[in-house]
Amino acid sequence: MDRQGELNIIRAAYAKQILAAAGVRANARLEAALRATRREDFLGAGPWWIFRRFPDYVTTPAADPVYLYTDDLVGILPERKINNGQPSLHAHLIHEASPAAGAHVVHIGTGTGYYTAILAHLVGPSGRVTGIEYESELAARAKANLLAYPNVEIVEGDGALVSFDKADVIYVNAGCTRPAESWLDRLADGGRLILPMTPYQGFAQGFGTKSTGRMASFGAVFRIERRGKDYLAYWISPVAIFPCAGNRDDVSERALAEALAKGGWQNVTRLYRNQEIPEERCWLRGSGWCLAYS
Ligand SMILES: C[S@@+](CC[C@H](N)C(=O)[O-])C[C@H]1O[C@@H](n2cnc3c(N)ncnc32)[C@H](O)[C@@H]1O
Repeated sequence: MDRQGELNIIRAAYAKQILAAAGVRANARLEAALRATRREDFLGAGPWWIFRRFPDYVTTPAADPVYLYTDDLVGILPERKINNGQPSLHAHLIHEASPAAGAHVVHIGTGTGYYTAILAHLVGPSGRVTGIEYESELAARAKANLLAYPNVEIVEGDGALVSFDKADVIYVNAGCTRPAESWLDRLADGGRLILPMTPYQGFAQGFGTKSTGRMASFGAVFRIERRGKDYLAYWISPVAIFPCAGNRDDVSERALAEALAKGGWQNVTRLYRNQEIPEERCWLRGSGWCLAYS
C-alpha cells in the first residue's frame, strides 16, 4: 500500500476515535468530513508543535502526518499559544451546531482553516462558509490553505465588526465575555450560535495553573438558537480557549467570573436582549442582555 493509502486508513480511524472521544454516537456526515480533511494541509511544514504537556509544547518526532491524527492541540502560532484546537472539542461543538447541506456558516477565528474546511465539507457545494480571522498572518495562511474550496471566503478582521450575510450557524472559536450584538442580529431564524465564554485574558497562564486546580481561564460554551425574536440557550461544554480580540470588557469579565464561581450554568435556558429579567432568573447579566434560567 502506498503512503496516501496508509494515511487514508489512519484518517478513517481518527474520525471514529474523535467522535467517540466527543461522545458523538452517530453523525456519519461529520465522520466523513473528518475522514476527508487532511489536517497536515493546514498546519504548515512539520515537525509540528503539539500542546500536550501543559503548559509546554513538544515537537513531533518527525514530519510525518501520522502524528497529527491524535486528539491533541497543535501550535499554529506557538509563540503566542495560538493552536489548532482539540479535535474532540470541535467535533462536539460542530455536532451541536449541526450545519446542514446548503447552509451559510460563519466561522469566527478560523486560524489556518482546518475546521473551516470541515465546515465547508458539511455544508457542501450548495452551501458556503465565511471565515473571519483577526491575525493577518493566520488569515493569509487560511486563504492559501483553502484555495481549493470554492465555497469558502476568508476575511481578515474582527469577527464582531466585520459585516456578513444572515447565517444559519455562527461558530465562534475564541473566548468572549459577552455575545456580540451583530452575531445575535445576523443569526437566521432557527440558526445556532456556538459561543465560548471565558473569564480571564491570561489564557496561557491558565494552562500553567491547571495543575494547582485554579481553573483560571476555563469557561463555558453555550449553544444559542434563534426562534423569531427569542433566543433559546443551553450549556454544551467546558472550554479553555484563546481569548477573543475585542468582545471582552472588564465589567462583563468580572460578571462572568462570578457566575462561573457560583455554578448553575447547566440550568440556563434562554438569552434575553433586555434588562427586564428579574435578578433571581439571571445566571449572568450584561448590559442589555442576560443568560437566564427561564
Ligand atoms: C483558539 S484559536 C483557533 C484557531 C482555529 N479555529 C483552529 O482551531 O485551528 C482562536 C483564533 O481566533 C482568532 N481570533 C481572536 N479574536 C478574534 C476576533 N475578534 N475575530 C476573528 N478572529 C479572532 C485568533 O487570532 C485565533 O486564530
